[in-house]
Amino acid sequence: MIFSLDGRLSVCADLVRPNTKLVDVGTDHAYLPIRLAVDKKIASAIASDIRQKPLAAGLENIRKYGCEDIVSVRLCSGLDGISPDEADDIVMAGMGGELIVKILENAPWVKSAEKRLILQPMTKAHVIRSYLYENGFSILSETPCTAAGKYYTVICSEYTGEQIDYSESDLYIGKLNNNNINARKYIHFILKKLKNQRLGLAHSNSDTVAIDRVIEDIQQKFGDDYNDNNS
Ligand SMILES: C[S@@+](CC[C@H](N)C(=O)[O-])C[C@H]1O[C@@H](n2cnc3c(N)ncnc32)[C@H](O)[C@@H]1O
Repeated sequence: MIFSLDGRLSVCADLVRPNTKLVDVGTDHAYLPIRLAVDKKIASAIASDIRQKPLAAGLENIRKYGCEDIVSVRLCSGLDGISPDEADDIVMAGMGGELIVKILENAPWVKSAEKRLILQPMTKAHVIRSYLYENGFSILSETPCTAAGKYYTVICSEYTGEQIDYSESDLYIGKLNNNNINARKYIHFILKKLKNQRLGLAHSNSDTVAIDRVIEDIQQKFGDDYNDNNS
């Protein structure tokens, strides 16, 4: 029997376009490409990782589920060992936001309207949004999700070349809106983190003007649900 993907990876899987050439960067056990191959959703996949050990586990799984004809493994850092014609949809899940941005910066060819980026940061999603807004990418959607009791977002993005104006709340909340329970939980989670950061700054007598502005912008945009008593 085939395994199920967790909340993060199943959102990523839903965002992969049918019959695509997929690259799953930082694949670890290769669960995402295997699941998509077994479900016959993709044309091909490269499961890549910077470390040999996770890649060996990935290869073992690929053989176990009989999808060697669709999924291959590649030992490389980020997109360094991938050529543009091997990738339509690129997933980067389970990594920090700063690392994801570094990988994108090192592969200028991702700036193509034909490529789709599906990004699920474990931390610092705002760093990714900032990179996307500043570099001509449009955020098509953000899907909140939970895994192991924690809240995450999956950012789906494509290159348009257009510069986009954004506010502080766009950086921290992105395209999420509070019409769904997971989005509301995610927004509360982000606000709590920002408020803790603010407390840290205040305790060390550092300037809190910038972070105050972010918190106020989010509270104004999303309303009473997110005032001091509720977040
Ligand atoms: C926590 S796992 C995430 C696995 C899977 N993508 C998921 O979301 O469940 C992160 C993986 O990224 C790999 N990794 C870290 N830095 C990398 C890089 N620069 N290029 C490719 N893979 C990297 C690690 O070796 C590890 O296997």
